[in-house]
Amino acid sequence: MQTLGQKVIYQIYPKSFYDSNNDGIGDLRGIIAKIPYIAKLNIDMIWFNPFFVSPQNDNGYDIADYYQIDPRFGTMADFEELVAKLKEINVGVMLDMVLNHCSTEHEWFKKALAGDKYYQDFFYLRPAKADGSLPNNWSSKFGGPAWEKFGDTNLYYLHLYDKTQADLDWHNENVRKEASKIINFWRSKGVAGFRFDVINVTGKDTVLVDSTDINEEKALYTDTPVVHDYLKELNRTSFGQDEDAITVGEMSSATIPNSIEYSNPAEHELSMVFTFHHLKVDYKDGEKWSDYPFDFMKLKQLFTDWQEKMDQGGGWNALFWNNHDQPWALNRFGDPVNFRVESAQMLASALHLMRGTPYIYQGEELGMMDPSYTDISEYVDVEALNAYQALIEAGKSPAEAFHLISLKARDNSRVPMHWNADKYAGFSTVTPWLKPTDQAEINVEKELASGQIFTYYQQLIKLRKEMPLISAGHFQTVFKDHPQVFAYRRYLDNQAKELLVINNFYGQETELDLGTYADKACRLVISNYDQDLTKLPAKLTLRPYETIAWEI
Ligand code: GLC
Ligand code: CA
Repeated sequence: MQTLGQKVIYQIYPKSFYDSNNDGIGDLRGIIAKIPYIAKLNIDMIWFNPFFVSPQNDNGYDIADYYQIDPRFGTMADFEELVAKLKEINVGVMLDMVLNHCSTEHEWFKKALAGDKYYQDFFYLRPAKADGSLPNNWSSKFGGPAWEKFGDTNLYYLHLYDKTQADLDWHNENVRKEASKIINFWRSKGVAGFRFDVINVTGKDTVLVDSTDINEEKALYTDTPVVHDYLKELNRTSFGQDEDAITVGEMSSATIPNSIEYSNPAEHELSMVFTFHHLKVDYKDGEKWSDYPFDFMKLKQLFTDWQEKMDQGGGWNALFWNNHDQPWALNRFGDPVNFRVESAQMLASALHLMRGTPYIYQGEELGMMDPSYTDISEYVDVEALNAYQALIEAGKSPAEAFHLISLKARDNSRVPMHWNADKYAGFSTVTPWLKPTDQAEINVEKELASGQIFTYYQQLIKLRKEMPLISAGHFQTVFKDHPQVFAYRRYLDNQAKELLVINNFYGQETELDLGTYADKACRLVISNYDQDLTKLPAKLTLRPYETIAWEI
């Protein structure tokens, strides 16, 4: 059996993968049709974004029935077929468990609204303050207050996300029992992987006090100690019973000590965590809607800390540049215009050769990039549209607001997969729910025929399976102060050879003094330029976005 460190996970956003029945929306039969494509990558598991019954106010993260496939994505029979066909190529299924909140269309919420006390206790219902103002001053992460009127009552319900996503009260053990029941239902369908959506905000207090500022506000409900208890309980009552379970918690801002506790096997919580610290280095003073070049030294420091300290504490990292909530890493950290291929390969190497389990987001293996939209009406995401309004209200001109949205919108990565150069990118024969734009240059057909990114990912995946230095080695940053190079070594306690990974994060050449590595014999493992050295020089000139991994 492969270790966790040998596996690679692929992420599919079903709504945007492939539309089999031509209604403009990707679906399960579309994924089944593309299994031969997926098989070429040799990944081990696929994380699917939610396709459960949902009004789709937050693209399926507002679940109205956790046990049914939304008809727009297919049927339970389609899902069973998908699981079986993936099993034939040794690919497991990871489902997205959105258990911090449910849709206000869910029967729990509807029963609560109808006056059923048992279900009212599933939610955070609170009266207005004595002066008639909202129960507290918290904000929704999608803009506006975190409270909405609860039917005709004097109460309000808490929603940290959209107002159609009501937060579930995890203090209530009946809520936690429902959570295990849902996971166990999907386990019985052959599912061994679970991704837990915003699971670190389930530990809200019972008394929801006002916050003094936004940072303190998040701390009031994020990564509180009780989240560990909830996860231990969930592990015991559900997925922890499967030897081959793979779980990941979305823990955007979690600290290293907390992440160690979440992911150290001895704690019996999760297999690994997704944190987003490294994807906030291009936020200006923490503000996402800003135009700000990424802080390279900060990025390097973050990778160093997380890699080294998680290892020391026995924790495990999920490694990723992209997902359905992020603009493409290629636009943020690479150069899709002048060095699309080189920078895509460099980013892939920098990430895939670190310690942890890499995730590849659909289209990343093609070097997909942010769409070139020209009007705000082309975006559909609730977060982007709310943020646009807020930016305008804050005094930005429509052009400025549009520019900021175009840099950071979640829709950037949700654009339909480019299968070929057709009008709708071979995704559908009708207008897709979100518009593709650059399929003429970037698409599967072209990439498989003559591209260099897909094959590069194939190589990285293969190397991880073959080389214990990659799957199990320790990590240490080297040439720490170099302003343009992120380099590290991977080593094992019982092996003399190490892996040296060097990445030029910029489109300019740079010199690197190899120090004690000079004169050492080297064997090339992977690079995005031709390399013929068998012995290391004292000084190395790195070309734009050059990446090299040598075994030394
Ligand atoms: C997570 C999801 C995101 C969703 C949010 C609320 O961050 O990845 O897409 O909007 O949770 O469920
Ligand atoms: Ca469809």
